[in-house]
Order: sequence, then structure tokens, then C-alpha cells
Amino acid sequence: MPDIPNVSFADGVEVPSLGLGTWNMGEHASQAMIEVESLKRGLDLGMTLIDTAEMYAEGGAEKITGQAIAGRRDQVFLVSKVYPWNASRQGVIEACDRSLERLKTDRLDLYLLHWRGEHPLEETVAGFEDLRRAGKIGAWGVSNFDLDDMQELMTVPDGDKCVANQVLYNLSRRGIEYDLLPWCQESGIVVMAYSPIEQGRILRNPELIRIAKAYQATPAQVALAFLLERDSLIAIPKSANPQRVEENAQAAELDLSEEDLAALDGAFPPPGRKTPLEML
Ligand SMILES: NC(=O)c1ccc[n+]([C@@H]2O[C@H](COP(=O)([O-])OP(=O)(O)OC[C@H]3O[C@@H](n4cnc5c(N)ncnc54)[C@H](OP(=O)(O)O)[C@@H]3O)[C@@H](O)[C@H]2O)c1
Repeated sequence: MPDIPNVSFADGVEVPSLGLGTWNMGEHASQAMIEVESLKRGLDLGMTLIDTAEMYAEGGAEKITGQAIAGRRDQVFLVSKVYPWNASRQGVIEACDRSLERLKTDRLDLYLLHWRGEHPLEETVAGFEDLRRAGKIGAWGVSNFDLDDMQELMTVPDGDKCVANQVLYNLSRRGIEYDLLPWCQESGIVVMAYSPIEQGRILRNPELIRIAKAYQATPAQVALAFLLERDSLIAIPKSANPQRVEENAQAAELDLSEEDLAALDGAFPPPGRKTPLEML
């Protein structure tokens, strides 16, 4: 079993720094079995954080997740997200109840606002806090928030209870290293890196392939190991293929040398100035 380092949330809860994404799961009934199997394999390997959302397959991914965690809910750190248009104070509560029903559980460990929308942040935060007091969520956070959004969030009542920000971050999207990532790290807010292998698009990069070969590893493993170098960061690769889930889990064992990290900087340059947060 790979030795996956833990990340601590502000409230002391510890989770593995490698979790499981679920985007595109639950779309086709014919894939359901392999999707459930892939998530279960990840859980067996210690990737015990599952990231889902009401958006994914319009609830279908939450249903797949519900099947994967059946009988082992307590081993799992369960994350879901609310659509921005459902994120009024009351709407967030109703959306959470629907997610819980699909997931066949009575609580989420972390509930995120999927991206900023028309409802004032105060309202969404008040709804999240209602849910937390009711024991339906353990904690709440946001997603796709750039630095200015985070700073604004800190000014609303209870905004500082946000524990996580889930954003696009991988070798080819390093903008957050300039400002958002250090700010979150200093503020005790965990960053969840989504699309950590850029949905597969970076895997044919020659430098990534060269470095991977030197470690007898795969390009995906190097891309994930690069992210795991960061403090207070969780990467959530998605795979509906049990072998690739294993491959991704083993990335935790890879220790990249300073020389190879520098080579990656050459192939995927870090930001030299502010770049607006990108979204997929
Ligand atoms: N908050 C947000 O706005 C937001 C946005 C995007 C994503 N997310 C979350 O982040 C998760 C991950 O992001 P993502 O799904 O966009 O992209 P990703 O994890 O970077 O890549 C997933 C793609 O790569 C393939 N793949 C996985 N492991 C592989 C490996 N070892 N070798 C080769 N190919 C591999 C998968 O195919 P197979 O399944 O066939 O293996 C899938 O097509 C999502 O599932 C979702 O939970 C959140």
C-alpha cells in the first residue's frame, strides 16, 4: 500500500493528500460497475477522499460515489459541491439534502460552493453554517475562487471558517503559485488541485516522459508527485480504470530530485506575474 502523506485542515481533521475525482462518472449506466470498482480500489489504497458534485452527471456521480462508499462511510472523507444558483441560504440546505440522499449518507465532510454566482457570499456562508450546526456537513469551502474572491470572503460574517479552496492546478496551469497558493497556505486554507494531470493533455510532454522514464514511473505519476511537493495541498485525479487508480496512488511514493524539479520548471515555467485563475 502506498504511503500517502496527510494534509491537516484548520479544524485538525487529517486527510490524504491524494484523493479521487468523479467528474464524468455516472454518465453511462454501462460504466457504473467499473466506476464503482475504481473508486473502491482507490479507497483500498488509502485515497480515502472522494470529490464529487451535484453537477457531475446531474447527480449521477454522487450516486456512483454512494455505491462505492456503502458499508465503509466512516473510512471516507466525502466532498461535494453546490451549484452557484442553488447557493442561497435556504437553497444550499435543500441542495445538500438532495446530495445526501443520492450519496446515501447523513453527512458530508466538506461542502464547497462550486464557483461564484449570483447569490451574495454572506447568504451562502450563512447556509453553510446552518448545515454545519445541524451536523449535515463537517466543514465548508469554496472552489474556483481567485485571491480577490478569497479576500472578499474573509470580510463576510463567518467567512473565515472556510477551510478549502478547490482550483485548477497542474504543471501546465501554475498561475496560483504566484499569489493564491501562498496566501491559502499562510491562511490555513487547504488547496485542492483539480484536473491535476490536465485531463491527460500534459502526459505527452517530452520532458515529462523523459523524467518519468528515469524513475521507471509514468508521466501521470510525475505530474502528481510534482503537486505533492506542495504543503497543504490535495490532488484529486479522476480515473475510472482500476489500474490507473493504482498508478496514481503510487505517485505518493515518488520523490522527485531538485534537478528534476528544475527540469520541470524549464518545461512548465512557474508564473512570473499575476495570472487570473483559470477554470475548466
Ligand atoms: N471544482 C471544479 O470546478 C472542478 C473542475 C474540474 C474537476 N474537478 C474535480 O477534479 C477531479 C479531477 O479532474 P479531472 O477529472 O478534470 O481531470 P484529471 O484528473 O486531470 O484527468 C482525468 C482524465 O485523465 C485520465 N487519467 C487518469 N489517470 C490517468 C493515468 N494515470 N494515465 C493516463 N490517463 C489518466 C482519466 O481517464 P480514465 O478515467 O479513463 O482513467 C480522465 O480522462 C474531477 O474528477 C473532479 O472531481 C473539479
